[in-house]
Amino acid sequence: MPVFPPVEPVGFDPSIPNEARVYDYWLGGKDNFAADRDAAEAALLIAPELPLMCREGRKFLRRTIRFLAAAGIRRFIDIGCGLPTQGNVHEIVQECAPDARVVYVDKDPVVVNHGQALVEDNERVVVIRGDVRDPDSILTHPRLRELVDLDEPVAVLLVAVLAAINDDDLTKAVTTRLREAIAPGSYMVISHAISDLRPEATDKLALLFADEWATKDDGRLRLPTEAEILPLFGDLEMVEPGLVRVPEWRPEPDELRPPKDTVWAVGGVGRKR
Ligand SMILES: C[S@@+](CC[C@H](N)C(=O)[O-])C[C@H]1O[C@@H](n2cnc3c(N)ncnc32)[C@H](O)[C@@H]1O
Repeated sequence: MPVFPPVEPVGFDPSIPNEARVYDYWLGGKDNFAADRDAAEAALLIAPELPLMCREGRKFLRRTIRFLAAAGIRRFIDIGCGLPTQGNVHEIVQECAPDARVVYVDKDPVVVNHGQALVEDNERVVVIRGDVRDPDSILTHPRLRELVDLDEPVAVLLVAVLAAINDDDLTKAVTTRLREAIAPGSYMVISHAISDLRPEATDKLALLFADEWATKDDGRLRLPTEAEILPLFGDLEMVEPGLVRVPEWRPEPDELRPPKDTVWAVGGVGRKR
């Protein structure tokens, strides 16, 4: 049984760039400060495709949610949900399944406060503070338990969040624990940036964001290769088309697709038998 690290308290200092707010800036949001915008712009000098990648990541998320809703899933746990943006999970799923319930989880208190304010009137949605590195504290959270019965099928979303773990063994332990905890018929969605396509750019970005994102002793963020992502699904049955670059996961027929190899992130959906 792995021992998960204790969740560290996270303060709120607008002078330090913060992952959720940098991501919000790339998505064209307004919930960011000067330090976030500076960091985001510095990253764009290395990889100008980052906003495109974020948008493609959100489109991937939207398509997976619609797929899961059509497959009958009515309980969603979105870990590392990010700041509210256009097309939040509960909005997408409740369009086709108004009775669906969504638990948003993020380690960032600003994300939690913003999110909670947005869904205050929606009794089927809750936003809780939690750290993906400690899945048990998420799964046993009383507010999650109010909305989600883990004996019933759920969808666990790990969309663009696992890089924050930055420890291969812990990432495996976390995904294994989550797979064990969900009922048969549940799904897990994973998307992850990979290093294979633009190793130089990802190395430089890793240095830029080391302080904010890295948890390893050497203080460096390490992005995995594409081949390292599939094993995180363990024995889940991969939904067609399997693990692919995110724009290639069941694109809508009329959807504009980015030029090949501009998006260095892969995603997939696995189902527990
Ligand atoms: C790149 S954003 C992705 C947001 C959203 N999932 C999406 O795809 O649009 C990553 C989010 O994960 C959150 N995060 C980072 N480390 C985390 C951790 N250890 N536990 C939970 N959330 C974390 C950040 O605060 C941020 O909101």
